[in-house]
Amino acid sequence: MITVDLRSDTVTKPTPGMLEAMWSAKVGDDVYGEDETVNELEVKAAAMFGMEAGLFCPSGTMTNQIAIKCFTNPLDELIADQTAHVYRYEGGGIAFNSAVSTRLLNGERGILTAEMIEPEINDPDNVHYPLTTLVVLENTVNKGGGKCYTLDQIAPIAELCQRHNLKLHLDGARIFNALAYTGDNAVDYGKYFSGISVCLSKGLGTPVGSVFLADKQTITYARRVRKVLGGGWRQAGFLAAAGIYALDHHVERLKIDHKHAQILANELSKCAWVTNIVPVETNLVLFDTAGSADAIVAQLQEKGIKCNATGSNRIRFVLHLDIHPEQVEYVVSVLKSL
Ligand SMILES: Cc1ncc(COP(=O)(O)O)c(C=O)c1O
Repeated sequence: MITVDLRSDTVTKPTPGMLEAMWSAKVGDDVYGEDETVNELEVKAAAMFGMEAGLFCPSGTMTNQIAIKCFTNPLDELIADQTAHVYRYEGGGIAFNSAVSTRLLNGERGILTAEMIEPEINDPDNVHYPLTTLVVLENTVNKGGGKCYTLDQIAPIAELCQRHNLKLHLDGARIFNALAYTGDNAVDYGKYFSGISVCLSKGLGTPVGSVFLADKQTITYARRVRKVLGGGWRQAGFLAAAGIYALDHHVERLKIDHKHAQILANELSKCAWVTNIVPVETNLVLFDTAGSADAIVAQLQEKGIKCNATGSNRIRFVLHLDIHPEQVEYVVSVLKSL
């Protein structure tokens, strides 16, 4: 039986080319700054996004949490959408690691605007209020079904942050999906953000890794924070080599995942048991079911298709590097038969 894993874009396995690159990586002790492949990845990723420096880390959660630690002081407050990964799915790390409170806003599918943010910035002269020092955006928005910000939408938020002396961090777990959809240039991101987390282990298909990008001074401090979190790693160049390979070979192909997502959404639109499909922009398909989502997930599982129910009537399909056209055709045929 064909198996198709649509649970997440984190389930991918390294390709033969990626394994070859990892096998032949030149490595050293990264805590001594001697791993040339790690150094190369950090320089390469920073240049791509118009940033001064980078720090290679084990996970997107760690790059986000390090960013928040770098851009705030204890007792500060950050502003984020109520669906933000940094708040919902990082184990309460904002409070634990940074002793910072979070002001949650109701964005449109997770997309915030300067008009929504401005009234939520606390008066810095009133001691009743925590000091607002950071805004965090997510692009694409995971819980928003892969919805994208364009740079035109980001520019007024960046201008607002500058005016109020706030830092602006981007959780770019799926930033390359956003760039593939919007056609914006990665290098322009550096003009707007104080920091960017770029994940290499989701759509780009590396086994492990995320890069935190910022100015040199921030990255020097971030290296210290990473060490405190136990993230000072040694011959990490084997993993960085996978990251370099992914940046060179797996960015262009993201459009294929987006096309596959559209094909599945189109088929779902013909299914009588589907009540709503969140408009698809990138590689995530969120849809609602008339009956129990768990029951549909179980039926799909019996046919070799794995996916997650993200609510009692909501299912998520995630397209990625390891989903090929014949698997998409198979899912379409199964959907027709349900
Ligand atoms: C939007 C977003 N940010 C951050 C992360 C965290 O990444 P990691 O699983 O590498 O910690 C994820 C993971 O799915 C995510 O979807």
